Amino acid sequence: MSRAFTRRTLLKCIAAVAASTAFGCSDDDDELPIIEDRAFFPQSVASGDPRPESVVLWTRVVDSGRPGADLSLTVQVALDESFSKRVLELKDVPTTSAHDHVLKVKVTGLAPRTTYFYRFLYEESGRRVASPLGRTRTAPEAGADTPVRFMVANCQNYNGRYYNSWQRLLQLDEDLDFVVFLGDYIYETTPEAAPPEGARQVRFSEPDGALRLSTSGGTVLAAASLSNYRDLYRTYREDPFLQGAHERYPFILVWDDHEFSDDSWSAHANYTEGRQDELQEERRRNAELAFFEYLPLAPDEAPEGVVDLEATPRYPDTRIWRSFDFGSALRLIVTDYRTRRPDHLIPEDAWPAAVAVDASALATLGLTGAFTADTFAYVDIDAQEYTEARSILRLAYVRLAVAAGLSQAEAASRAGAAVRGPQALAYVNPVLAQAGRAPIDPAGKPRGLGFVHLGKTELFARLGARYVVVKDTYDVYAAWRDASTGGEAQNVLGTEQRSFVQGAAAGPQAWKVLVSSVSATSMIWDLSNKQDVTPESVRNRYYFDVDQWDGVPQEKERLLGALRAATSDRTVVVSGDIHASFASVEAGVPALTAPAISSSSVGEEAGEQVTEAGFPPGTAVYRYVVTEQVATLREGNPGIVFADTDSHGFTVVEVHADEVRAAYHLIPGAEARTSYAERPEALAARFTRRDFTVRAGAISQA
Ligand SMILES: [Fe+2]
Repeated sequence: MSRAFTRRTLLKCIAAVAASTAFGCSDDDDELPIIEDRAFFPQSVASGDPRPESVVLWTRVVDSGRPGADLSLTVQVALDESFSKRVLELKDVPTTSAHDHVLKVKVTGLAPRTTYFYRFLYEESGRRVASPLGRTRTAPEAGADTPVRFMVANCQNYNGRYYNSWQRLLQLDEDLDFVVFLGDYIYETTPEAAPPEGARQVRFSEPDGALRLSTSGGTVLAAASLSNYRDLYRTYREDPFLQGAHERYPFILVWDDHEFSDDSWSAHANYTEGRQDELQEERRRNAELAFFEYLPLAPDEAPEGVVDLEATPRYPDTRIWRSFDFGSALRLIVTDYRTRRPDHLIPEDAWPAAVAVDASALATLGLTGAFTADTFAYVDIDAQEYTEARSILRLAYVRLAVAAGLSQAEAASRAGAAVRGPQALAYVNPVLAQAGRAPIDPAGKPRGLGFVHLGKTELFARLGARYVVVKDTYDVYAAWRDASTGGEAQNVLGTEQRSFVQGAAAGPQAWKVLVSSVSATSMIWDLSNKQDVTPESVRNRYYFDVDQWDGVPQEKERLLGALRAATSDRTVVVSGDIHASFASVEAGVPALTAPAISSSSVGEEAGEQVTEAGFPPGTAVYRYVVTEQVATLREGNPGIVFADTDSHGFTVVEVHADEVRAAYHLIPGAEARTSYAERPEALAARFTRRDFTVRAGAISQA
């Protein structure tokens, strides 16, 4: 529909409402009987992006008798549940089959900090079918001195799991201003095989449009077409408790990776660990369109009326970062960590022998004396004397690459590009030994860091690339990449968004809450002094996950430092993604990491990663990293005040002028496999609560 039509209609209706007392914009249709029928609104209703005078309303209408037709709706907004105090009515608002019959309307002219009720009416067979009732609330006006409460949610994997966390929120009937959803609203993959009896699982209506991925657990389909991504949102939003949360509260949403592709950056997926180029621009745009269709957010500049999905910028012009003001207490700064970010610093196809930080780079960083041991020696493999060693290394590369599925020609070509120049003896010599050759003597050779020193021991692997990297060498490599690229290698937000964040931090509100999809809490496994860990070469400090802020340590320090300074120590980071709960102080800034709604906990994930790395249950590494995970993490990061790496749930944050309070509502991770829909009392008994108080730069138990 044209925007002009929408604006005219809306303005006419608002004028009519202002002129009459209650029934503006009404006409003969009001005589038709109204019945509520969820079958016409299978994903119910939702609202989002609350501002003092506006909010975005959402629904999707389905008429099984008219599947391909464009359908019109009436939108009503009122101050009461019976709609006798109507403040706005929009008639003949079209929904199109081209956009799956979703409707997003930005309604304006509302009063600040006011609860509104809304619904959608569809005229059919001489009656009006009403959507479920929606309730929403506008933000307090600028300067209003009032506490603000919101819930933080993220990571709601649907397959085989249940939304006990949403059920609990509804049970508590929390008085919230909004829900902030940090990302992983959907997960893009689903097993190809039918689910086990009774388990719920997303099914794609057009599986041929999806990517087929082989995993140890069988073939998995990854959404790629628009139809695939729509199926995900449609299915997730059929859950009654998620619907209930949307019906009850406005949401402020941002995406993380799984709305597109696991651990993605820009329009790049990461399924093949570097074996293939996975730049997938069309897939990214499909993912974004389904996100914009199904979720109640609108670009800042969207005018009142129907939100024009065609006009919502998508990759490469995507722009979903934005800020929200709630009186004098809070400015919420919502960031997009995925769309602009460069690749992870260690590529998945990094050749372990390649030198990442050479002697002159170490000198530039002032670290000449830091890595003097023989293990850091490297040689220029192109030198005449290493001709045979180079051939052996290239053969080794080709063997690994062919075993990983590359063609001989591709493997040979990649070997030629990788096995050249400086090569770390820590990797070269074991390869030579395997070929029955003598090692190259490290004496007198330059010192530097190869990818092998960063924990990259396999050719195509996420381990040593995105997960489980050696902290102390990684920090040096990250500093070098940062210095040598003028900060660009770590510019995860992108230049425009970074200046937006810094500008937003200067607002007059008492607190700035930075919303980041990925966690700011450093997750460090310190095995450096663990005498029972073998082999000895494994006794290092590790970052568990460098897809999150740990992966860009210099940028993290810079950003948090700038926020601290601009807000006089009144910044709090709210984040998620890691499927664990943390309260920690990072670079002087309190960081609250909210638990996942339902996705497998980091306890489970870490178990898989270390087993994959060759340390199964029974080893000391497994014990420290999995069994005693919380103690190990606390030892590695003394800024951690609270850690729970098993539970699901959500965090309720209350912002007062002088302090911020956070309540973690937690349920053991194993419970996600059980539906408590019919047993609300049992559910209540499974939840526990932990309370914390944040004051300038510090977190304490309440
Ligand atoms: Fe997640």
